[in-house]
Amino acid sequence: MIPHPALHSDLSVSCDLATGATVSGDLADAVRLALPMLDLRPGDSGEIDVRQDAALGEEAYRLTTGSRGVEIVAGGRAGAFYAAQSLHQLLPDASYRFSEQASWPVPGVRIEDAPRFPWRGLHLDVARHFFPKRELLRLIDLMAVHKLNRLHLHLVDDQGWRVESRAYPPLHEVSSHRPRTAVHAHDEPAEYDDVPHGGYYTLDDLAEIGAYARARCVTVVPEIDVPGHASAILAAYPSLGATGERYDVLDRWGISPAILSPLPPTVEFLTTIFDELIGALGETPYVHIGGDEVVLDHWGASAEITAYRGSLGLSTSVELQAWFLRRLADALAERGARAVVWDEAFVGGGLRQDTIVMPWRGMGVGRRAAAAGHDVVATPVFPLYFDYAESGSPDEPRAIGDTITVEDVAAFRPAPGDWTDDERARVVGAQAQLWSERVPDARTVDYKLWPRACALAEVAWSGGTADGFTGRLERHLGRLDAIGVEYRPLAGPHPWQRRHPHRPSRIPMSERMAHIEAMTHDPESTRPSL
Ligand code: ACM
Repeated sequence: MIPHPALHSDLSVSCDLATGATVSGDLADAVRLALPMLDLRPGDSGEIDVRQDAALGEEAYRLTTGSRGVEIVAGGRAGAFYAAQSLHQLLPDASYRFSEQASWPVPGVRIEDAPRFPWRGLHLDVARHFFPKRELLRLIDLMAVHKLNRLHLHLVDDQGWRVESRAYPPLHEVSSHRPRTAVHAHDEPAEYDDVPHGGYYTLDDLAEIGAYARARCVTVVPEIDVPGHASAILAAYPSLGATGERYDVLDRWGISPAILSPLPPTVEFLTTIFDELIGALGETPYVHIGGDEVVLDHWGASAEITAYRGSLGLSTSVELQAWFLRRLADALAERGARAVVWDEAFVGGGLRQDTIVMPWRGMGVGRRAAAAGHDVVATPVFPLYFDYAESGSPDEPRAIGDTITVEDVAAFRPAPGDWTDDERARVVGAQAQLWSERVPDARTVDYKLWPRACALAEVAWSGGTADGFTGRLERHLGRLDAIGVEYRPLAGPHPWQRRHPHRPSRIPMSERMAHIEAMTHDPESTRPSL
C-alpha cells in the first residue's frame, strides 16, 4: 500500500546508531530484510524499536516515527516486515538504490495498518515462456515492496514443463523445451520463429525460491495444471494420456485436446510430483491443480476410461473429472496442502469444501463459489489479466486482448458491495494473472506488471483504492525508477517499448468476454485458438 505520509519532524535512521532496544530475533530479522540499505547488523536495530503485540493480526502493525525514534509494534513477523516496508516508503527514493549513504530524514508519522485480504497475489505463467530463477527472486523482492504475499507459479502447460523431477527425469529432459514457437498464432498457416525455447527450475532452485520468498513473507503457490493442457507431459509420458498417443511440446498457442488419463497410474504420478514439489519448496500450504479449459473428448472415446468411469458409478466425463480433481485434492490434504482450482472445476462439481476457487471467467461464477462456501481469490479476466493491453493505443506492445488500464485495476473491488455478507466473507483476496504467450522476456514482464500491480497491491491491501490514487502512484514511480523497474510510463510506452509493426492484432475485449461468459455456462466447451 502506498501510505499518505504526514511530514512533521525529522529523525535519522542509520546503520551506526549506537543504542537500540532489543528486538526479538524473528521480527528484527524481518525489519533488517526490509531495510537492506540500513545495513543493520545482527542484534542491532539502530534506533528502531520493534515489539510484538499478539493482540494484533500476524500481518498488522503500528509504526510511529518522531523525535523519540522509530517504534514498530507488530502482530507477527509479517507485520514487522510490512511496518519496515512502510518506513522505507517514508524515506527518499534514493534509499531504494544501493549507495554509500546510510542516513535519511524520516518524517514523523503514526500509522496503524492491517490488510483487508490475506491473499494478495501475482500469478506468473513460466510455462509458455520460461523466466529464470533470478527473475523470480527479483519479482519476490518487488512483491515484498508492495506487500504482495502469494506468488502463483504456473509450472506446466502444453508449451512446457518447468521443474526438475528426480522420479520422472524425462519431464525436465524432454518436456521443458520446444524447438520453435508460433509468432502469428491465429493466422493460418502459423508462422514460426525457429528459435528453441526452454528451461526449468531444479529442485534446489525451487527450494531456494521457496526460502527466499518465505523470508519476505511471500508464499509460493505451485500450479500443476491438470488434466488438460497436457501436451508437454505427454511428450515424455504418452502412456499417461487418454489415447497413448505421443505429443510434441506444443509450439503454438491455444488449447490442445491433449489430456491426461484419470486412471490410477496418473494419480500415482501426480502425487509423486506433489511430494517432490512440497519436499523442495518446504512449507507449502497451497497447491494449484488447474482444472481449466479441459477438452474431455478423449475420455469419452476411450473404452478403458469409460469402463473405469462406470466402475466408479459415474455417468459423465464431467463427473469423472470432478472425481479425479477431488482425488488429487485429497492427496494434497494428506500432505498438509489445500487445493486451489480455476473456476471450471467448481462448475464441474464435487470439490472438497476446503478447495479454494479462482474465478477467472468473471465474478459471477466467483459469487456462486462463495455462496457454495468456498474460499475465493478474485482473479477475473477483467481487470486482473495483465496480459491484456494497458491502453487501446496501437503503440502498446503485443497483448492477448484489449484493454485493462491501471485505473481499471484501481477501481476493482474484490468483495463487491452487492454480495451478501456471507459471500463477501468468502473472498480471501485478489490476484493478477500474467499469462506469457505474448510475454517473451523479463523486460516485458516489468512492462506488463507495473504499475498495474501497484494498483492491485493497494486494492488487495485496503479493499479498494482511496481517493488520490493517481497522485500517490505518480510519487511511487520514483521508487520503481530507483529499483530499476521498466514499468509502463503513465503516458504510454517509451519508443523502445512500443509494438513491433509486424506483431499480431489483439482480440477485442467484447469478443473475449462473450466467449468467457459462454464458457461459464458450459463447462465442457473450449475457447478458440488465441
Ligand atoms: C485460464 O485463463 N485458463 C485460467
